[in-house]
Amino acid sequence: PVNLHGCSVLTLDDFSGAEIRYLLRLAAELKAAKQAGTEVPRLARKNIALIFEKESTRTRSGFEVAAYDQGAHVTYIGPSGSHIGHKETMKDTARVLGRMYDAIEFRGFSQHQADVLAAYAGVPVYNGLTDEAHPTQVLADFMTMREFTHKHLSDTTLVFVGAGRDNVATSLAIGAAKVGMDMRIASPRALWPDDAFCDRVRSMAEANGGSFRLDEDVHAAVLGADFVYTDVWLSMGENESAWRERIELLTPYRVTRALLAATRTPHTKFMHCLPAFHNAETEVGQDIARSYGIDCMEVTDEVFESAASIVFDQAENRMHTIKAILVATIGA
Ligand code: CP
Ligand code: NVA
Repeated sequence: PVNLHGCSVLTLDDFSGAEIRYLLRLAAELKAAKQAGTEVPRLARKNIALIFEKESTRTRSGFEVAAYDQGAHVTYIGPSGSHIGHKETMKDTARVLGRMYDAIEFRGFSQHQADVLAAYAGVPVYNGLTDEAHPTQVLADFMTMREFTHKHLSDTTLVFVGAGRDNVATSLAIGAAKVGMDMRIASPRALWPDDAFCDRVRSMAEANGGSFRLDEDVHAAVLGADFVYTDVWLSMGENESAWRERIELLTPYRVTRALLAATRTPHTKFMHCLPAFHNAETEVGQDIARSYGIDCMEVTDEVFESAASIVFDQAENRMHTIKAILVATIGA
């Protein structure tokens, strides 16, 4: 039997396929209970700190709503207003917050800081996104994939298209390897993850009956894909001066209607962790449109708004899967 009580969630590397499936089952139960109005609060009197060094809409909301639904309280600690990062070390912050809170969520620039927090807090730490990993996103994505296919996860093909080194891409690859999926990354070679990572994920995938492959040829990579997934071409914390280079490298990897047709699979769904750059309606979009003359990047507006797009189901499931993590690790 799976028992995750007291566990941190820093990367899916630390979890078995069985543990991931357990969290997905629990999330589905919690979602059904919320919808039926029969949810039982298992986090009464728990206090959770939410540290955000970077911006967030889904992750913050997911943690807050999940906690409140389950009877817990949260404290949001944003990029300014605390001593974290400029006047107090993470090691000291960890020991302070660990004395007051039952668990800590951390979204930050460096995975190392998340590890330090977990090493010294004495309470579970949840990675809400770092430069390297976004494990809570992957659980929501796998939950969503289960909702939109009759297949077992181990029988599905997931293809990430874009910057192969992206934190979401590499986190999906680790999760996919754990559950034995057929996972491919279509990316220009200059943006592939390093060989050590790829070898490790490939052997993990093969040990679990899955596969992992990188391909520069995006059309070959998406053939047979049940799910085509993409993310922004430049992540939070990456140097904005790289925009031009990323646009040049990645424009052939944009998810268009033609690319979805190249899967030769009528049921292919489109996925994105969001936020997405699919039109120039935002402030950032307008800047990009002015500077580079393009009004979409990783995905066209047409695909984003199409019936194949399940991006808002993914967004909703962030909350249900985060709730499962909270209940499993600190719930009564
Ligand atoms: N997908 C995701 O993590 O979204 P936020 O940045 O809004 O939290
Ligand atoms: N790769 C993106 C994901 C945002 C949810 C980033 O790190 O900014």
